[in-house]
Amino acid sequence: MKRYLFVSLIVLGGAGLAGAQITSPTTDVLGAHLNYGRGCTACHAPHSGSSGNGVARSTDPGSGSVALWGEDVSSLYGKTIITGGGKFVEVLPRSMSAATPDVAGMLTCLSCHDGNYASRAMMRNRVYETLPATYGNANSIPTLIENTGSSTGGYLSEHPVGLSAKVKCGGSANWDCSQVNGVVSMRGANSSRFVSSYGMFVKPSSYNNSAVIVCTTCHEPHRMNVVNITAGSTSGLPPGTYATMFFLRGPYNPASGTTGSNQTAQFCRQCHGELSNEMNGSTAGTIF
Ligand code: HEC
Ligand code: HEC
Ligand code: HEC
Ligand code: HEC
Repeated sequence: MKRYLFVSLIVLGGAGLAGAQITSPTTDVLGAHLNYGRGCTACHAPHSGSSGNGVARSTDPGSGSVALWGEDVSSLYGKTIITGGGKFVEVLPRSMSAATPDVAGMLTCLSCHDGNYASRAMMRNRVYETLPATYGNANSIPTLIENTGSSTGGYLSEHPVGLSAKVKCGGSANWDCSQVNGVVSMRGANSSRFVSSYGMFVKPSSYNNSAVIVCTTCHEPHRMNVVNITAGSTSGLPPGTYATMFFLRGPYNPASGTTGSNQTAQFCRQCHGELSNEMNGSTAGTIF
């Protein structure tokens, strides 16, 4: 890591960029997901699924069968949630063995973060990280994302997510990317320029040969504050560790004090190609 840091600083110095993106976190990278001391086992029980954690509310034969899942997800089975202002209908899997990407990518997160159908587990319902002053302070930001007390309404205010929320390529509204079996390749003139200045960190899942969005498309639950870019990453950025927040898969530092910092917008542009600099004739790259 020391070696990477050294090399990257030289490369960035050469390109005349502010080298502020390289970071070495001093806190545990699992961050909020240390789960107030319970640690990995709050999510992955080494034995007996949710019973092993004493949180089984049902006799779910599938408990623990995917990623040794240690929370009880049965209250979410088969529930319909409608996201993206009403356009995206998602019927949650009916069992842990459904073998669709919304099992490991959505049921898992909602087992603690739903706050409506599922129990709140150890959640305190407020963001754990210290937020910069650019966020409002009229209320504390909730982490039980559906805790509205209504059976359907709350999900309308969620970014499109689920098996019907598809990432598309081509046309005037999307990147000049291509897709084979739900895998997005950012190889067009504009998308490849974007990847060299930022990267393609998000990981859509493949469902019926389409790239679809689940929680883990944008979030990586094991690293709260850091993105590790290696030589094999889909990013032209110099290898090293970059600051992020909220377990996001790409660099995302709203606390960067750099003038013109656009890294948080770049995160969204990974899929919203039509709103990128590259697709609008601007030569601007990523400013950290
Ligand atoms: C907040 C919940 C959470 C915590 C805490 C957590 N993980 Fe995970 N982990 C997940 C989820 C969700 C997946 C599945 C991701 C996917 O497949 O998209 C996963 C996947 C994994 C996998 C891959 C296993 C598989 O079958 O896909 C391993 C290994 C793993 N985690 C180990 C750990 C270890 C070790 C820790 C503690 C250092 C830890 N996890 C903490 C949520 C968590
Ligand atoms: C075992 C329960 C549990 C599971 C499962 C879980 N989380 Fe969390 N998560 C927490 C806790 C605890 C916090 C701290 C905030 C709180 O107490 O409300 C948190 C906080 C977060 C935060 C905010 C962190 C910050 O910046 O302050 C994000 C983002 C997040 N989780 C995403 C996810 C995603 C995505 C998944 C699924 C892959 C997931 N979580 C699964 C327990 C969980
Ligand atoms: C399209 C990308 C994307 C998807 C999909 C996504 N998130 Fe997030 N999430 C974000 C971003 C970006 C933030 C940080 C927002 C900010 O800066 O305030 C965030 C923040 C959060 C937070 C912190 C509290 C908050 O409201 O800011 C939680 C908890 C969270 N996400 C959970 C989830 C869960 C659970 C899912 C799946 C149901 C999910 N996310 C799906 C992008 C996404
Ligand atoms: C993983 C890819 C991905 C990422 C990353 C992403 N989006 Fe999206 N977003 C989509 C898709 C796909 C749609 C649905 C487009 C459609 O088919 O209508 C969408 C729709 C939207 C919509 C319209 C929702 C509605 O109700 O009609 C908004 C607004 C939006 N995204 C904002 C954001 C913001 C802000 C970010 C960054 C925090 C972001 N997106 C990151 C893929 C993504």
